[in-house]
Amino acid sequence: MIDDIRAARDAALARVEAAESLESVTALGTTLLGKKGALAQLKAQLGGLATVGEKKAAGQAVNEALQSVAAELAVRTDELGVAATDAQVQSERIDLTEHAGWPTRGHAHLVTQAWERLEDVFVGLGFRVAEGPEVETDWHNFEALNMGEGHPARGEFDTMFVDHAGDGAEPGRTVLRTHTSPVQIRTMLDQEPPIYIVAPGRVFRRDTPDATHMPVFHQIEGLVIDRDITMADLAGTIEAFTKAFFGPGWSSRLRPSYFPFTEPSAEFDIQRPDGSWLELGGCGMVHPNVLTACDLDPDEWSGFAFGFGIDRMAVMRHAVGDIRDMFTNDIRFLSQF
Ligand code: FA5
Repeated sequence: MIDDIRAARDAALARVEAAESLESVTALGTTLLGKKGALAQLKAQLGGLATVGEKKAAGQAVNEALQSVAAELAVRTDELGVAATDAQVQSERIDLTEHAGWPTRGHAHLVTQAWERLEDVFVGLGFRVAEGPEVETDWHNFEALNMGEGHPARGEFDTMFVDHAGDGAEPGRTVLRTHTSPVQIRTMLDQEPPIYIVAPGRVFRRDTPDATHMPVFHQIEGLVIDRDITMADLAGTIEAFTKAFFGPGWSSRLRPSYFPFTEPSAEFDIQRPDGSWLELGGCGMVHPNVLTACDLDPDEWSGFAFGFGIDRMAVMRHAVGDIRDMFTNDIRFLSQF
């Protein structure tokens, strides 16, 4: 019996040592230590042995054999486990020295650069920076700017309406602001004159993208309200800004135009050092109806306002052929500026 037990143990140990994979060693565990294994079957025969001494000796031998097979299974499982982990690590190995180039330091987008420089220049001229919400009421965006319901100038702005009625706004009368001019209204309602502010910000129109238009773009608004402000102050401010922003070789001019919220109104152009003209934006003296809507007495206060597109201006300044290039986020384009 003892010899049979030793033979069964040695056969089991040989099979464990020969196992090549974790799956086969797991399966062997069930086979060799289970009820149908050779050692278990020998154990079942212990009852048939003649003497207590023989039973004891054979029982001890079977238990020791089972323990040594279990120990060998554990050792082999560990060995194969380490080998499997090594193989996985090798197959998933990443060569950290393989890279496409050193990371390069990024920089602000062209529009952000222009936005920040505009703020710097106007703060240098004595203006304060103001802001307003991108989702605006019909009243701030149109009505208070002398564009009542049905005013034909509303047609100039392809407006996107928002299904929203927060902050006391009426449902169906909330818009994505079509220009930064509503910040004029908010500022006049919020603070007493004298007012000297610029308001850069994002605006929205239902314009189809092309070389000079985007549906989402940026404007900067300027507003001055004080006593005895005239058109000469407006022209002088535009001229001072042009020289400070573009350079001493540049100058500006005003051309008669029309905006419902300014009277008189003008377009302002800037002249490159080579003599060619570029149209930049609109401006004019704040209309008395706008002052009245903001509870200011037009006999006491006067002022001017201006507004232009920041993206358009950056496109002109850097001679970019197509405004859409500014927003496709092609690194080859962006890294040039
Ligand atoms: C206005 O928006 C007026 N609020 C400007 C103003 C302010 C006039 C204060 C008088 C007093 P206008 O619709 O022309 O005006 O737009 C002003 C500028 O925004 C344009 O000159 C242009 O530079 C820019 N712009 C207009 N539409 C687009 C667009 N779809 N994409 C990019 N830039 C645009």
